[in-house]
Amino acid sequence: FRSFGFDRTNSMGINLANDQQLQALAAQVNAAAKTDWRAAPLVPGATVSGPNIAVSNPADRRETVGQWQAADSATVERALANAVAAQDAWNATPAASRAAIIEHAADLMEARMPMFIALCTKEAGKTIPDGVAEVREAVDFLRYYGQQARKLFVPEALPGPTGESNTLQLSGRGVFVCISPWNFPLAIFAGQIAAALAAGNAVLAKPAEQTNLIGYAAVKLLHEAGVPEAVLQFLPGDGATVGAALTKDPRVAGVAFTGSTDTARAINRSLAARDAAIGVLIAETGGQNALIADSSSLPEQVVKDAISSAFTSAGQRCSAARVLFVQDDIADKVTTMLAGAMAELKVGDPGLLSTDVGPVIDDDALKMLRAHAERMDREATPIATVATDNEAAHGSFFAPRAYTLNSLDQLHQEIFGPVLHVVRWKADQLDAVIDAINATGYGLTLGIHSRIDETVEKIAARVKVGNCYVNRNQIGAVVGVQPFGGQNLSGTGPKAGGPHYLPRFTTEKTITVNT
Ligand code: SER
Repeated sequence: FRSFGFDRTNSMGINLANDQQLQALAAQVNAAAKTDWRAAPLVPGATVSGPNIAVSNPADRRETVGQWQAADSATVERALANAVAAQDAWNATPAASRAAIIEHAADLMEARMPMFIALCTKEAGKTIPDGVAEVREAVDFLRYYGQQARKLFVPEALPGPTGESNTLQLSGRGVFVCISPWNFPLAIFAGQIAAALAAGNAVLAKPAEQTNLIGYAAVKLLHEAGVPEAVLQFLPGDGATVGAALTKDPRVAGVAFTGSTDTARAINRSLAARDAAIGVLIAETGGQNALIADSSSLPEQVVKDAISSAFTSAGQRCSAARVLFVQDDIADKVTTMLAGAMAELKVGDPGLLSTDVGPVIDDDALKMLRAHAERMDREATPIATVATDNEAAHGSFFAPRAYTLNSLDQLHQEIFGPVLHVVRWKADQLDAVIDAINATGYGLTLGIHSRIDETVEKIAARVKVGNCYVNRNQIGAVVGVQPFGGQNLSGTGPKAGGPHYLPRFTTEKTITVNT
């Protein structure tokens, strides 16, 4: 094996099993949660005049947690002009200096963990453990790309004939647009930005419309750490005014995007249609993630990992397990235990330590999930629905559910929420199961539960996915440890938090000198 990245440690976070530490953190988070947050475009020289838009808490829509203002077309144009003007000086700043700024931002973010967790809880409905993981991942991305930049931008001498010196050096590509999702509003947002900045690119950052407050706080922190304001600009707003306008502009060198496959395709078309240099697109998109359990696996472990993979973060992870393919010999036991384990899940206020599953992001998500549940109630066999009275309350709550399907064909799209579908298979159908998973065209995560090495090797070799997890859950990829990202409809690669990500934000130059 090649090895990389071992001279770096990930952030420690807190020990969630230590009740004292947890209570202390919860108290800090709850105190920070009383802040009246704001967000607005951060664009030097622009006049921001749009109306204040209220942000409500997904767990209780009656509670306003902050206000934001959208960027208009004039602000977007000003931001582009600023970025173009700032690009060369930032690219000429030594990579070690850029890295030092980004690493300073990591230290600041780590020190302000309770405030960022509070934002994740109030604006995105994240539970406190999810908030801890979110901040840690963001901090890890900042440190990982900072460290990589220190190494990557050292010019590399290449062997050549006598009388000639050859050097390969990397530099930034140009202005990058970073478009991030609401489900990892800090980690993916900061990760994309950190990579683009570390590589020497000016950045125009567009957060998801549901999580502007978090994005604003992250950009302010990066400015405080030393990123010049024209090098990193913040553009909250709607997809047409901000995202679509930026991706069709010839001044943009590349786009880092995480979100739906359809939007990634639209960005790709938009970049390709420009009468300009060919832009680069780094996209992480959807999945139809499966977990395959054979009869040699331990039902207790399958159920524990299926619950964690399907319902953590209310199933709103692109890595989440959507379909459990379980071999029929253990299927009755697994489904009975699954229903029992689901009965223990607590749906509710994400600010409470007792909560396992918080709200979904908004009422559109809720509508989609309710429509899916209605169809499943008609067309599939219900296994369990978590008992909760929160669905009738004032938040966007959707109780976790599990259904048995006859086949994967009954799912027409990724269901981005806490719904697990179970499909049974017989001993001679393993290849058919793998074929069905590959036939979805998606290829993000796959869980395998088996104690037979040949089975594990066969599945891992045949399945076309980016992240394969064996005998554990299939969520929570760790920066630098499990580089994350999919194949085919699930993304372009390279993997976030992996050694090949940063180079995609760069351009290469070979210098040959006759000596
Ligand atoms: N990176 C996240 C995870 O691994 C996915 O969205 O769960």
